[in-house]
Order: sequence, then structure tokens, then C-alpha cells
Amino acid sequence: MSSVKCHRFEGKVAIVTAATKGIGYAIAERLGLEGASIVIGSRNQKNVDEAVAQLKARGVKNVAGVAGHIASVEVQQKIVDFTLQTFGKINILINNHGINPAFGHILEVSDQVWDKLFEVNVKAGFQMAKLVHPHIVKQGGGSIIFNASYSAYHSPPGIAAYGVTKTAVVGLTRALAMGLAKDNIRVNGIAPGVIKTKMSQVLWEGGEEAEKELTEVQEIALGRLGIPEDCAGVVAFLASDDANYVTGETIVVAGGVQARI
Ligand SMILES: NC(=O)c1ccc[n+]([C@@H]2O[C@H](COP(=O)([O-])OP(=O)(O)OC[C@H]3O[C@@H](n4cnc5c(N)ncnc54)[C@H](OP(=O)(O)O)[C@@H]3O)[C@@H](O)[C@H]2O)c1
Repeated sequence: MSSVKCHRFEGKVAIVTAATKGIGYAIAERLGLEGASIVIGSRNQKNVDEAVAQLKARGVKNVAGVAGHIASVEVQQKIVDFTLQTFGKINILINNHGINPAFGHILEVSDQVWDKLFEVNVKAGFQMAKLVHPHIVKQGGGSIIFNASYSAYHSPPGIAAYGVTKTAVVGLTRALAMGLAKDNIRVNGIAPGVIKTKMSQVLWEGGEEAEKELTEVQEIALGRLGIPEDCAGVVAFLASDDANYVTGETIVVAGGVQARI
């Protein structure tokens, strides 16, 4: 069973976007095992159903899900309405979603792909924050967390446009933190390095040798790639009362990679 010993989210309700696998799933599991009621999302109903069943099997007591594309305003509203209907309130929003459809030189990114990157990675999180805001205010405050990326600071070759959207996410995190502090809502983020998920699979799927080489090229001080649980623990800290005096920050979760503005 779970090795999670803290119970910092008993009685709290959290939305985790894009959470049927990878980092989002690990965040949902961690918050759920710490006592939160969880609503997860992703595009595919089957993935949502499977992830909900898996989270229950792992010991998360209250978990449900909504399928749909996070950039759709109807889907965003559906997630919020569903959460209120199912669990009665909202305390925490984890804007975990992010896409990276473009590989190559930044000037080769088409206008359509550029717009899509910003629509999903930046605008949808902003829209979700707006939608949950009155409901978190009703609870006397809470927490919003964004999943950025170390590429916000680093501009890795091949995914520069994605990195620009993540730099915007860091800025959005700061701006929302300043705007929502008066409502006792803290807004923070994480900036993961290379975390072993489907999204980054192309980088590490060559086996141990490929991983070792990537670790050296990226100058990862801790000598290994990250796993989703490395991110989930930091998100749980930021969402909890343990981080009561932290807002507007983005914590780099990258094993010591040099990544700063
Ligand atoms: N992995 C890394 O190395 C890394 C590093 C830095 C930052 N990040 C960030 O971490 C976040 C999660 O990435 P990950 O690596 O955990 O990815 P992942 O393992 O590939 O999982 C992506 C999740 O998002 C869902 N999803 C994809 N597009 C969606 C959409 N348009 N609307 C709703 N749900 C959607 C997927 O489910 P469906 O297919 O069912 O939609 C899945 O549950 C992203 O913001 C990413 O930018 C990742």
C-alpha cells in the first residue's frame, strides 16, 4: 500500500487537469492519498475511467473524472460544474496540462501550431483559474498550481516554442499570485526537468545508455532522470498549509539542472 504518511488535504477538493497518466496522475494520487477528493480530466473517456479505477485501487477514496479537451471553454465549465456537483466545493486547482506538438527550429513552427501551444499551455490555465476563483474565494482561500517546465528558463533545442509558452506560464503564475493574494489564494508552480513520462519518452526510450547520456548532456547533478512522483511531492507541499507563506514561486524540479531566469 501507500508510503504516504501525511494527511494534509482531508476535507479538501482538488481538480487536476490532464491527469490520466504521467505527472498529473502522480499528483492526483498524492493529493488523494493525503485525503483530498479529486476530479481528474483528460481528452479520452476510456483513459479517465481507467485512471479513476486505478486511483481507487491505489487507495484514493474520493475520485471522479471528466473527459474533454482542456482548451474547450465548454469542457472547462463542465469540469468545474462536475466538481461542484460531485464534491460540493473547490479548494485547489492543479493546472497540469501542457502539450508539445512541435519539434524543430523555432522559425519552422507554423502560426497554427504556435496558437495551439499558447491556447492549451497558457490560455486554458488562465481560463480555469478564472472559473474556479469565485468557488475558492467561497472557501476562504486555497491554492492554484501550474505545471511549467525547466524549458521556461533554458530554451532546449527543438522545443523552443513550447519553452516560450512555459515562460509565459511562469509569468502568469506570478501575475495571478499578486492578483489573488487578497483572496487568500496562493498561486505557485513547478518547473520539471526531464521526467520519465509518455511526453518525454522519445528522449529516454533508448534504454539505460540513452538515459545516462541524456543525464550527462543535461548536466543533471543528481545523476538520473525524474519520475512523476518527484513532481507530485513538490506540488503537494505547495498546495498544503506547509507552504502558507509561499506565493508567486515556481520551483524547479530537475535534479539540479541549471535553470533560472
Ligand atoms: N515529462 C516531462 O519531461 C515534462 C517536463 C516538464 C514539464 N512537463 C509538463 O508536465 C505536464 C504533464 O506532462 P506529462 O509528461 O505528465 O505528460 P503525459 O505523461 O504524456 O500525460 C499527458 C496527460 O495529459 C492528457 N492530455 C493531453 N492533452 C490533453 C488535452 N488537450 N486536454 C486534456 N487532457 C490532455 C493525457 O490524456 P489523454 O491522452 O486521454 O488526453 C494525459 O493524461 C505538461 O504540462 C508538460 O508540459 C513535462
